[in-house]
Amino acid sequence: MTDNELIEQAKKARQSSYSPYSNFAVGAALLADNNQVFLGCNVENASYGLTNCAERTAIFKAVSEGLRQFKKLVIIGDTEGPISPCGACRQVINEFCAPDMPVLMVKYEG
Ligand code: THU
Repeated sequence: MTDNELIEQAKKARQSSYSPYSNFAVGAALLADNNQVFLGCNVENASYGLTNCAERTAIFKAVSEGLRQFKKLVIIGDTEGPISPCGACRQVINEFCAPDMPVLMVKYEG
């Protein structure tokens, strides 16, 4: 799986974003050690603090399917600069991903 292939997967995941409150769609693609790919999007809630970010969705999907070893994470949003994970996501990434695991923070236009 190349970086570009994983980025395309994250773009696809972004299409499922439920973000009527921020109007900011985010996608994520998480590559597990066994080469399975887990997709995630942000899922917002009227009680905004319950919002789940794209990368957390992908990680929680993987962990809930029994996978805990990961090699790469792509996060994509339509930002000016590279998209940056929030504190909650950084904490979850820290829980399940090695400190040297690459996290590609991608803006939609490349
Ligand atoms: N969001 C993500 O899903 N991932 C990020 O890395 C940045 C922020 C979401 C949360 C919320 O639904 C919207 O983007 C605006 O912050």
